[in-house]
Amino acid sequence: MDWGMQNRLSQLIQSDGHCFFLPIDHGYFQGPTSCLEKPGETIRPLLPYCDALFVTRGILRSAVDPGKTKPIILRVSGATSVVGKDLANESITTSIDEIIRLNATAVGISIFVGSDYERESLTNLSDLVNRCETYGIPVMAVTAVGKELEKRDARYLALASRIAAELGARVVKTYWCKEFDRVVTGCPVPVVMAGGPKCETELEVMEFVHDGMQKGAAGINLGRNVWQNPHPVAMMRALRAIIHENHTAKEAWDMFNSLKSEEKA
Ligand code: 5RP
Repeated sequence: MDWGMQNRLSQLIQSDGHCFFLPIDHGYFQGPTSCLEKPGETIRPLLPYCDALFVTRGILRSAVDPGKTKPIILRVSGATSVVGKDLANESITTSIDEIIRLNATAVGISIFVGSDYERESLTNLSDLVNRCETYGIPVMAVTAVGKELEKRDARYLALASRIAAELGARVVKTYWCKEFDRVVTGCPVPVVMAGGPKCETELEVMEFVHDGMQKGAAGINLGRNVWQNPHPVAMMRALRAIIHENHTAKEAWDMFNSLKSEEKA
């Protein structure tokens, strides 16, 4: 692997082989998402606890301090919305010149395997890989399901993740599911887990993250379950303990509760 590619990947995936990415890209298709109305305010207290931010160029320019040194994964697919006809009908939104100008450490793009726009989204991924590999910039593929959340089972996610890696993604972001080891085993590049809509309890989040890590995930790319929680810093710190300090779900949950009480005191 070339030095530039290796250097960028090692900024994202830490020396323990694990990573915690913070996604705040939801506005690109759903507008001012709850708790993300002012992204700069949401990000500021959380930044010290993540390994990289996942954002669009618009939010990067308007809400992220260029003096801060966290690696940026630039969301470069979009052009659809929740009120439009089909979320899967995405395009590449950002040129390679812009990706380089913004000093992105990596880029992220969604693929919609099994949708009416499967071919277009997979071609977008391949085109982006072709452009980014020239400059040593890793592509993270997001196995998106649009509104069809029920698609998130091991068979489907393993299929979509493997296809993403075959087309050249250096990292795959997918959902946690039961039998998550099937997803990881079939995917030759690091797999990170997204959270999906907010879970009922914090313990539930700790449990699925811990299970996924035990089954071989490299880490998480968790948004709503962090910043829609009333105690987002406590969530970040507790989840970080699972990712980078090998804590159990229960230990992380206890940590969350004690940090939450400290905040109140
Ligand atoms: C939105 C995304 C998000 O980055 C991803 O879904 C992770 O966020 P969450 O944990 O809130 O699901 O790709 O398109």
